[in-house]
Amino acid sequence: CGIVGIIGTEPVAPRLVDALKRLEYRGYDSAGVATLEGGQIGRRRAEGKLGNLAAKLSFEPLNGNIGIGHTRWATHGAPTEGNAHPHATDKVAVVHNGIIENFRELLADLAKDGYLPKTQTDTESVALWVTREIDRGLDPEMAVARTLKELRGAFALAFMFKGEDALLIAARSGAPLAIGYGATEMYLGSDAMALAPFTSRLSYLLDGDWAVLTKNGVTIRDGSDAIVQREMLVSAASALLVDKGNHRHFMAKEIYEQPETVSHTLSHYVDMSSDKVALREALPFDFATLKRLTISACGTASYAGIVAKYWFERYARLPVDVDVASEFRYREPPLEQGGLSLFISQSGETADTLAALRYCAGQGQHIASLLNSPESTMARESQVVFPTLCGPEIGVASTKAFTAQLTALASLAVAAGVARGTISAQQEAELVHSLTTLPTAISAALALEGQVEDIAKRLSKAKDVLYLGRGQMYPIAMEGALKLKELSYIHAEAYPAGELKHGPIALVDELMPVIVVAPSDELMAKTLSNMQEVAARGGKIILITDEVGKQTVGEGVAEVLVLPKVASFVAPILATIPVQLLAYHTASFMGTDVDQPRNLAKSVTVE
Ligand code: G6P
Repeated sequence: CGIVGIIGTEPVAPRLVDALKRLEYRGYDSAGVATLEGGQIGRRRAEGKLGNLAAKLSFEPLNGNIGIGHTRWATHGAPTEGNAHPHATDKVAVVHNGIIENFRELLADLAKDGYLPKTQTDTESVALWVTREIDRGLDPEMAVARTLKELRGAFALAFMFKGEDALLIAARSGAPLAIGYGATEMYLGSDAMALAPFTSRLSYLLDGDWAVLTKNGVTIRDGSDAIVQREMLVSAASALLVDKGNHRHFMAKEIYEQPETVSHTLSHYVDMSSDKVALREALPFDFATLKRLTISACGTASYAGIVAKYWFERYARLPVDVDVASEFRYREPPLEQGGLSLFISQSGETADTLAALRYCAGQGQHIASLLNSPESTMARESQVVFPTLCGPEIGVASTKAFTAQLTALASLAVAAGVARGTISAQQEAELVHSLTTLPTAISAALALEGQVEDIAKRLSKAKDVLYLGRGQMYPIAMEGALKLKELSYIHAEAYPAGELKHGPIALVDELMPVIVVAPSDELMAKTLSNMQEVAARGGKIILITDEVGKQTVGEGVAEVLVLPKVASFVAPILATIPVQLLAYHTASFMGTDVDQPRNLAKSVTVE
């Protein structure tokens, strides 16, 4: 979820909505704003996308120069208008990002005094608790201070009070929150981007902090209620919102940007004139002496991590553990002192990945992250930040960020190989050169679009789709399956091609499309054998291969998508393009909301 607040000198409702638009990546299933008009709390909330809230506000405007707003990704309670934030009593309105884990206990206690909830949310327990403290005679500041001590879980909160037209209170424990300083106004928001149209001067609250904002400034206290100073930074976040250009969807635009974004990212990591890697970041560790690399990430970023495992192990002989962050953080694996932990995230805000990062920091690991958001929470908590330079990604399903992550990871694997002496200067030149062939090859892959559209029409009739790949193509098969299910809501699963015979082959019949990702390499013959096992059982095969691989394809393949031949090192990056296009066209053919699929958020900021 995303939160915002303004103590203003002019009406805030339209500006709250503008800020929420910039926070929609954190959730978009409902939204709301509250302002104070004549000292009274007024609220407008709407189910669904932010546009619904904006429409409602145009019919029933809210005046008032102070307000808070929220865009939601539902945790407790369905995404209805009733469960949308702000939650309010007659005394206080509150917006919340995170989860109050002990809300049932809080509500049980409140019920004894007759404070009863009207919604299914965890957040309402906070509004009610503050209200009871106020009813018992505390002022808003003391009421919040008391309430915060009762809350368990991760949260960022913002409060506004009846009759207090120059007071907002904010609190942070686990979820990010920034305070923005204007000339005559004060702001708060989940990130710098939300505040960019208003101010670039901001301070980030630390965990445990809570802040009292008035027209004149802010007083920040830590978890023990002592007044603290938090550094003021100047954010580089842009106030401009990117647009779709000539494309129907952001996702299409982002798929088409990839020749450029891969090239841009690559130019940061390699010296194209000498075909050598050239890392610009000062490394707090030495690849040469590392014993192990631990990678954690979520969703698409975790698949980039799995491809990286193949690369680092093969070219740098560096053992790699990869985990989805939500599993890693609670397994609490033992980590050797001095090891390197790498976190991959487009947003730098994903709650599980951030928790994994903090766990590793506590275990004495070197902390590196590969991020697309240089001002994110993960960036601030990492010793070294490797950038993906693909520009803002708006489509919820990650595309250009994934190929940029792969490009950076491939470069880092080569750098590690050079440092560890596992590849020669000549191999380094070959590997770097192969990376430089990608932008042209990706442009050629994009030209498969017409054929992909035909296949997508047929794919849109399927109930289930299987994706197969071996070695470094297995994570690309996983990415293909994830893209298809998140965009088209068709059930899709990926298997390592060799594992098919151990169970999933039971699913294969004449109705089952099977997408095989197999560019020519030393494993292709094995994958083709697995493909024949599918063909023999009537499965409809769609093969993604290259010009060389095409020569060896046997009978029983319904469709072949032919990519240009590139070195097998970079083939996973290229093979990503057709799986993206397949998912995109299947979904747009079916008419789903491609840029903001149901139930998802671009960055999930709760665990
Ligand atoms: C969400 C998005 C995915 C994304 C994942 C990780 O689930 O829907 O597309 O891969 O979060 O996001 P991150 O910002 O950490 O890369």
